[in-house]
Amino acid sequence: MAGASLLSLRGLGKDYGGRVAVGAVDLEVPAGTIFGLLGPNGAGKTTTISMIAGVITPSRGAATVAGHPVVAGAAGFAARRAIGLVPQDLALYEELTADQNLAFFARLYGLDRATAAARADWALGVVGLRERRGDAVAPYSGGMKRRLNLACGLLHRPALLVLDEPTVGVDPQSRRHIFDTIRALRDDGMTVLYTSHYMEEVAELCDRVAIMDGGEVIAAGTVAELVDRHGGPPLVELELAGDAAALVAARALAARHGALAGDDPTGAVLRLPRPPQLGPLLADVETAGATVVNLSVVRLDLERVFLSLTGHSLRD
Ligand SMILES: Nc1ncnc2c1ncn2[C@@H]1O[C@H](COP(=O)(O)OP(=O)(O)OP(=O)(O)O)[C@@H](O)[C@H]1O
Ligand SMILES: [Mg+2]
Repeated sequence: MAGASLLSLRGLGKDYGGRVAVGAVDLEVPAGTIFGLLGPNGAGKTTTISMIAGVITPSRGAATVAGHPVVAGAAGFAARRAIGLVPQDLALYEELTADQNLAFFARLYGLDRATAAARADWALGVVGLRERRGDAVAPYSGGMKRRLNLACGLLHRPALLVLDEPTVGVDPQSRRHIFDTIRALRDDGMTVLYTSHYMEEVAELCDRVAIMDGGEVIAAGTVAELVDRHGGPPLVELELAGDAAALVAARALAARHGALAGDDPTGAVLRLPRPPQLGPLLADVETAGATVVNLSVVRLDLERVFLSLTGHSLRD
């Protein structure tokens, strides 16, 4: 169940010149959730969170964070204070150490020395970088830099942590670490707004999702709700084994049952609407000389949700 909103957007939008970057976004982000903003390149994700964080001024609409209005100047201080922004482009001083970078951000947040030192230690522990705190950042791996970028956004213990594509250029181990960190922060009471164009990430990590395209939110809810509403009927996925000729023949026969063009380059995976009876399909596949090595029903698929809402693929 969605609780009280920590972040509310009402018709929030931004124009650049005559062009609409973000139309008019309405959004409620419940407190204590990981909320995903999913959309392809240019959908307006960064523009939206930049308005939320007070980095750019909206052309229309309004936003509140923890009940505080997002506005320029002193009246917006409480809202800005409630947000930790971890930007898409790394904001780190490469020639400085991790500790020095954190000290710099702590000064920006107005933390006193003792608090800054304690928070830096905590944040380095959260992202797993304590052993490297005295090293200059330049030779860090992409994943380590992302993790330090995240630590910088945590120093003032924001109510809302905003992460803009935090796994781009990250190795699988760092990605796992970042996911574990985000979940731990959520479990500790933080609200997290997470932008990504990877639907698998959003499906795995996020409690709720808003799908953006062309500067608008086109659907929002839990992944299960979105799939129920827009995902179409369940699909059966068959994984086949056999020689090339058998696979070609099996695909041709399966097409009569409504098999879809799979995205598997070997042609060994077929997807089709779940038929009333599987028997005839399986018999045809075996008649073609192929063997079914795996059979599953596919439901949780945000790609299909996106495709049915927009008519185009999220991966383009
Ligand atoms: N400073 C700017 N001046 C002009 N146009 C801009 C500016 N910033 C963004 N835009 C335009 O606004 C639209 C949305 O861009 P935005 O960066 O918010 O998308 P995004 O969803 O974050 O994309 P990505 O996945 O590539 O990061 C794009 O068409 C972009 O070209
Ligand atoms: Mg972006």
